[in-house]
Amino acid sequence: MTLGEVLRRATRHLERTSETARLDAELLLAHALDRSRIELYTDLDRPLNDDELSCYRELVARRSRCEPVAYILGEWGFRRLTLDVDRRALIPRPETEIVVERCLERLRGLDEPRVLDVGTGTGAIALAIADEHAGARVTGIDASQEALALARDNAARTGIAVELIEHDLRGGLPGGPYDLVVSNPPYVAPAELSTLMPDVREYEPHVALVGEGVTEAVAAAARDVLRPGGWLVLEVGEGQASRVTARLDDLGYVEIRAYPDLTGRERVVEGRREP
Ligand SMILES: C[S@@+](CC[C@H](N)C(=O)[O-])C[C@H]1O[C@@H](n2cnc3c(N)ncnc32)[C@H](O)[C@@H]1O
Repeated sequence: MTLGEVLRRATRHLERTSETARLDAELLLAHALDRSRIELYTDLDRPLNDDELSCYRELVARRSRCEPVAYILGEWGFRRLTLDVDRRALIPRPETEIVVERCLERLRGLDEPRVLDVGTGTGAIALAIADEHAGARVTGIDASQEALALARDNAARTGIAVELIEHDLRGGLPGGPYDLVVSNPPYVAPAELSTLMPDVREYEPHVALVGEGVTEAVAAAARDVLRPGGWLVLEVGEGQASRVTARLDDLGYVEIRAYPDLTGRERVVEGRREP
């Protein structure tokens, strides 16, 4: 079978369980052959040998059981970085890249800003900020030892220096004063867990997904560690922006604003500790 035929068959097979079947089929084939996706297209008539075919079949079988492509590949792109990803932490999402964008905007012009990333997971937000704002001194905390171990792997992989601390935000936030506190906290209500896609529900850590009142707890605790005039930037779930905006107002934050993701949904809320 040629690459082209294999791709067509895998796509048809994956269409039963995935909305991105063709893309999945291409990413997995590129991984199996250790090529880029673009290179596949220059080689569509080449036949696969038996080893390549059996390796690819195994990857497609995993995807057809709803395992996320990112976990199968073992790495995933986030802004300028390629990070290790596995079941110890949430896969970084495109909307979280917008969270980083807002942070960089608020840090602009500051020489050596201090930043705290609450619930760092893979370390995506912490590492991207340190990567893109020269001189930023970034601390990432997480209550999950497994996630922190992965974040440490990613700091080593990227060669970016960040401080990583095991810490549960329910005991308040460590250190400070910070110029900016950022968080993508768990915000799926327990009752909503069953409505999530199996890719998410059955593979990603529930401690990274499910939480009630965690966003509000971060916002309340951040007031104690932000310097006057420092910024809080939060990723929020779909439909949660107005609730979180109101809560930030109650907590005394000023200049509160919500920002849309690439699909127009308000997924980032920011506010400022009164200067
Ligand atoms: C939605 S994930 C975000 C991961 C990463 N920051 C990202 O944006 O891809 C939430 C993270 O918060 C962590 N977390 C959950 N409860 C926590 C708590 N009480 N204290 C500290 N971290 C917590 C989870 O372990 C998880 O890594």
